[in-house]
Amino acid sequence: MKRTLLLLGATLLMTNIEAQEVKELHNIDFELGVSGWVNRGDAKVAISTETANSGSSSLKITNRSQVWNGASFASGDIVSGKTYKVSCAFTFTDTRYETHTFELCAQYDDNGTRYVTMASADVTRGKWTEVNGEITFPSGAGNISIYVQSKYTTEETDIDHMDFFIDDFVCIGEELPEVESLCNLYKPYFRFGTAVSTSVISSASGKSHIEKHFNSLTAENEMKPDAMLSQSLSKEKGEPVVQLSYGARQILQYCSDNNVPLRGHCLVWHSQTPAWFFHEGFDTKNEVVSKETMTTRMEQYIKAVFELLAKEFPKVNIYAYDVVNEAFADGSNGLRTAGKDASKGQSYWTLIYGNDLFIEKAFEFARKYAPATCKLYYNDYNEYIEPKRTNIYNLVKKLYNNKTCDGVGMQSHLATNYPSVQLYSETLDKFASIGCDIQVTELDITIESGASDATQAKIYSDLFDLYIKHSSHLSSVSVWGLHDGMSWRGDRKPLLFNSDYTAKPAYYSIIDGLEIENAIGDIRVPCETNDVVVFGIQNAFIVEALNDGEIELYSLSGSLVGVYKYSEGRNIIALPKGIYIANKQKVIVR
Ligand code: XIL
Repeated sequence: MKRTLLLLGATLLMTNIEAQEVKELHNIDFELGVSGWVNRGDAKVAISTETANSGSSSLKITNRSQVWNGASFASGDIVSGKTYKVSCAFTFTDTRYETHTFELCAQYDDNGTRYVTMASADVTRGKWTEVNGEITFPSGAGNISIYVQSKYTTEETDIDHMDFFIDDFVCIGEELPEVESLCNLYKPYFRFGTAVSTSVISSASGKSHIEKHFNSLTAENEMKPDAMLSQSLSKEKGEPVVQLSYGARQILQYCSDNNVPLRGHCLVWHSQTPAWFFHEGFDTKNEVVSKETMTTRMEQYIKAVFELLAKEFPKVNIYAYDVVNEAFADGSNGLRTAGKDASKGQSYWTLIYGNDLFIEKAFEFARKYAPATCKLYYNDYNEYIEPKRTNIYNLVKKLYNNKTCDGVGMQSHLATNYPSVQLYSETLDKFASIGCDIQVTELDITIESGASDATQAKIYSDLFDLYIKHSSHLSSVSVWGLHDGMSWRGDRKPLLFNSDYTAKPAYYSIIDGLEIENAIGDIRVPCETNDVVVFGIQNAFIVEALNDGEIELYSLSGSLVGVYKYSEGRNIIALPKGIYIANKQKVIVR
């Protein structure tokens, strides 16, 4: 009843969006879980049965230390250039207060972060108050989310930090074409990963996008030598000491909580490594250390990294690590130039060792201290250009044969004008001939002048055809970022998604053809002994089972949506509305 009224209200009030085909995109009553709502700032969010606007539960927001701490929601179908009608009910139960004003707001990036209050309402303690708002996101807006908070003030007091409840969140807007999950589509072939930054992992829109598309994450900067090595602690202890920054912890915690495997990046590199690491007393005032001292330090450092990760984040599956990054020079036959200035491409490692012994040692130590399940890679860019390509080939072949290295990481920072797909393909063949694993670790393709989205899309498509061809010895492909707005080469729009997370032609080019192929392969015959009945209800599906077990759910195009555990009896499993396939039958979640 409630829902019908809300919808009717929305239709009558519809202004900007009346010309379009609109529908209810989200209707969240918090009966079956938080359904994509996450904390904003230090707040905590959880389902509560203390009070409810409809049904028996709502979302409770606690632990607020600032007025803007609240809850936030993002979804791939709330995008730039479109208008949305949003409504949500608020209440609070704190007996210290009689009334308080709460806000329903939206946030997005458009030349800086924008905060828009769509609507606010004075709420009386214990009474549920419905708030209705509307917003049009400008075209080009990125990182869109909807959030709730106390009415914003710069003079906040305790009342602005009280716990509160929301319920019956409804969002109405234009329905977008369904975008398939990249990692589900590519599951039969390899992992599909991305680099993430602290900011993206803390945003609701970033999280929802990662959850949908990626089954491997790489910290873009947060686990590099300069982010982990502590000068003061190293000086104090007389040996390298590592620690995890707030950002690294955010990323590792996400991996731990969501069971997402991580690619470690990186241990030994000329760049983003503090100069003091290479000097006596961990101080650039002193001489550069000897080869012997550096080898001891390198072992202590690598040992410390793996020990810290195992201790602090024992649940994270670190399935790959870039042990040595970018040791070879471009254009000449050999290592990077010896020197102290990384900004000129010089390397302290070459300066101290004079040869590739430091690479051998790094792999020896990584093998000694990394978990057995973590594969070790030599990672580099311009990996397709001679003589660098042959240098990488010879090195990895040697290390692979002595069993300290598992494969080559091809960074793959490409451009629409170089390299040719042919050259890249020959490189894949050459590295594959070593017999080792290959991982594509940092893929992006800049659009250079004269090229278009379509040029880029064609290259992406050709590359993914190659990756599938090589998939028996290519275990992971990662793009270097979630969307163009957060790319290190964002001015030339190198990634698969626009900054509002809408899919680009590049995205569609790499899923084209896969859907049908996987649909045939993925819809398996159910286990005969599985005595279950499955049917959809509102926001969930029900499994009635005679025994405990698991059930696989597929989207209509055949990609795996998830594997769900059930126990004997009646199981209610929360799921976004849509049509699914379970046991070869359609299940409609309303
Ligand atoms: C880049 C990051 O994306 C930037 O944010 C940072 O300022 C510089 O480093 N090769 C690598 C990556 O191995 O670590 C680099 O990442 C890109 C090139």
